[in-house]
Order: sequence, then structure tokens, then C-alpha cells
Amino acid sequence: MKIISDINELRDHLRGQNRASFVPTMGNLHEGHLSLMRLARQHGDPVVASIFVNRLQFGPNEDFDSYPRTMQADIDKLEKEGVYILFAPTEKDLYPQPQEYRVDPPQQLGDILEGEFRPGFFKGVCTVVLKLFSCVQPRVAVFGKKDYQQLMIVRQMASQFALPVDIVPAETIRAEDGLALSSRNIYLSASERAEAPALQRQLSAMREQVLGLKEKTVSSLLDIEANALMQMQTRGWKPDYMAIRQQRDLARPTQADLDGGQPLVIVTAAKLGKTRLIDNLEI
Ligand code: PAJ
Repeated sequence: MKIISDINELRDHLRGQNRASFVPTMGNLHEGHLSLMRLARQHGDPVVASIFVNRLQFGPNEDFDSYPRTMQADIDKLEKEGVYILFAPTEKDLYPQPQEYRVDPPQQLGDILEGEFRPGFFKGVCTVVLKLFSCVQPRVAVFGKKDYQQLMIVRQMASQFALPVDIVPAETIRAEDGLALSSRNIYLSASERAEAPALQRQLSAMREQVLGLKEKTVSSLLDIEANALMQMQTRGWKPDYMAIRQQRDLARPTQADLDGGQPLVIVTAAKLGKTRLIDNLEI
């Protein structure tokens, strides 16, 4: 595997490749990330991964400084997956000048849910993803459904800018007890780690409740949400949101949407101690 930090060197290495398959990450790689590398290999050749902890997508009080950086262990894992190039730019490589041009996703998608609780997050994500796409020029890029809203926003960005890259979604990889794998899980204490799967169990319970409704109404969904929030609070969590939304645009379903059988997804973010976890479940 070639490890490259310089944009021009990356371009030299990829010259003439028009089937590259790309997996952007922020490192501290786990099985979830590695499953994306495997999926990428099915969709193109060569596989290019990136590791870059992108300052633009962290809020002033978020964990940019303490975000886990484990470059050597990550390199070993990517070598085993047969990744051809690891693009690991420094901040100077990727942002040689302050990144003043940014991509602002539409409010109705970028400022809800994660965007409401992490202002500017998706602007930072879109900006770096567009720039990484421009560096790597992949035909295909793989994103995890674990970050459901991110996947949707990146997909729409690619579509609205007519970027020549297909966005391929990857299923969420979980620990045996159901907790979605995340680089941030290492922040959990032993007792928090034991409690953490309760989030996914709550999503499953909500899904069962929705499926068990004789008639789906807007207010019955709101009741399910309110009840779930309360239950998680009782267990000591601080949920930001537990929301039943439409799969197609993450908007609240209207009664007409529900009557028309629009597919739904439950999305959540919740704090357990100091650790903020996100998850989702399609209905
Ligand atoms: P990061 O959190 O490192 O995630 C990189 C990719 O791995 C994302 O597409 C994410 O959805 C996927 N992923 C994370 N956990 C997963 C799991 N348990 N199962 C399957 N896929 C999983 O997301 C980012 O980095 C950044 O925002 C980035 C897109 C790299 C832009 O900076």
C-alpha cells in the first residue's frame, strides 16, 4: 500500500485510473470501516482510502483535539484489506490556505437532526468530501448507513453538482450486543459500554410499536417518540432526538405520507455520560 499525503503525488499515482473506488474516513478504523473497504473492492479498482480528521466539521466544544488518532494500527488494517493507496494528508496538505469556499447543504436537510445539534457539521463534511473527491477523482465512493443523514446529504451533493461519482451505501456493522461500531465507543467507561446497546434496543422497540399500529397517524408516531425519549432519560441517557422520519428526505411524515405508505426510518443521537452516540433503524 502506498501512503501519500501530497495531493500532486496522489494525482501522479492515480493518473489513468478511471475505476477507482474511494472510502473516506477519519481513522481509528474498526470493522465498520473495513467492511466499507471490502464493499469498495466489489465496485471498483483500485481501492483508495483516506484518513483525515477534518477540523471543519467539528464544533468549538467538540472532540477535534481528543479524536482518536491511531495511524500505525490503521495502516496495518488497510494493508490487510488490500487497499492500494492510503491518502493521509496533513491539514497543510489539504487546506494550504484557509478553506474559504465551502459547500452549504440545503437547510431542510443540513440543519435538522444532526445539523440542529451540531451546527455547521454538514457544511464541514460536504466541503471536505467534495475536496477529497476532487483529489482522488473516484468513480465510486462508499459511505456507511450508520451516518444516515451524512449519506443522504453526500448523495444529494453528488447529484446536484453532477459529480461523476456513484455513492454506494454500506450496512451498519454492530458489536454482538447490537451496539453500532464507532470510533467514539472508546470513550465509554465499562459500565457505559454495558448500557450502550440499550439505544439500539430502544430503536427496535420503536420499530415494533410502529409496525404494531393499526393505523399510522402523525400523533401516534409522536407518542412513540415521546415515550422512547422518556424511557432513555429514565435510564440516565440524554437523548438529543429520537425521531421517526421519512427515508427519502428525513422530513417528518405528513398524514398523507403515512397513508401513502412512505418508508420510514428512526434516527437517534443520545449522550451516555460524555459520549454522544448515533444510530438508526429503517422500518
Ligand atoms: P468516520 O466517522 O471515520 O466514518 C467513515 C465512514 O465509515 C462513514 O461512511 C461512516 O458512515 C462509516 N461507518 C462508521 N461506522 C460504521 C459502522 N459501524 N458500520 C458501517 N459503516 C460505518 O464519517 C466520517 O468519518 C467523516 O464525516 C467523513 C465522511 C470521512 C468526512 O470527514
